[in-house]
Amino acid sequence: MDEVFCQFPFNRLLFTKFKMADLIITIDGPAGSGKSTAARLLARQLGASFLDTGAMYRAVTLAAMQAGVDMSDEDKLLGIMETSEFQFSITDDMMAVCINGTDVTGQIRSPQVTANARYIASCPKAREKLVEMQRQFAAGRQKIVTEGRDQGTVAFKDADIKFYLMADPTERARRRQAELRARGGDQSLEKIRKAIEDRDKSDQNRTVGPLRPAEDAVIIDTTDLSIDGVVEKLLSCVKEKCFEKN
Ligand code: C5P
Repeated sequence: MDEVFCQFPFNRLLFTKFKMADLIITIDGPAGSGKSTAARLLARQLGASFLDTGAMYRAVTLAAMQAGVDMSDEDKLLGIMETSEFQFSITDDMMAVCINGTDVTGQIRSPQVTANARYIASCPKAREKLVEMQRQFAAGRQKIVTEGRDQGTVAFKDADIKFYLMADPTERARRRQAELRARGGDQSLEKIRKAIEDRDKSDQNRTVGPLRPAEDAVIIDTTDLSIDGVVEKLLSCVKEKCFEKN
């Protein structure tokens, strides 16, 4: 049975102080750096809950696209967050998402949603609400591994362990192309690389929750690493840090 972690119009959130999880591990980094897969596998190894925060930005983006609103109009975007019914559930290998009762888990990964996510990502009030939800998610759990762009810098500044994954843009484009092909789509490497670089720029240059490593993050270049190699490195850092703490 999937674990449903939130179901709401976003305006029904309770803004209270939460007791945080005992172990919070954040993994930030640009698109294609390997953070989603690594976070999922690390969470599994540690028996922790896994949170894919990009899926939240994607879900709101898709809801706005479906409603045909002007994506540059912040009030309209906030209106969508308040009136749509979102449901996020944790499955074994991904976060499943429903909007108004319809499963959109596959749709939120489309290149159009990916390209439009920057609007919601640069909307301060929307980010505030999403970050609050992420904290609420952590509050109900003992151990979490959460991945995104601002998890170590904004959402969980006091996280126990922070990672920042990076990789060469061409390698990141190759990974995205393989993912796209696995889902039956295709795009030239050139086009994917350009989209990735545009997304990097937009993620790094926005004024709220910009993509950057936290000062206390462990930075890992995954360009020449297999996914197992990345998870191995993460695990050995986690063991080291937990040993230091105790
Ligand atoms: O990680 P993913 O590619 O699914 O994220 C989609 C988009 O959502 C990113 O390009 C970024 O603009 C936004 N995002 C964000 N902050 C997060 C997670 C995702 O701004 N914590």
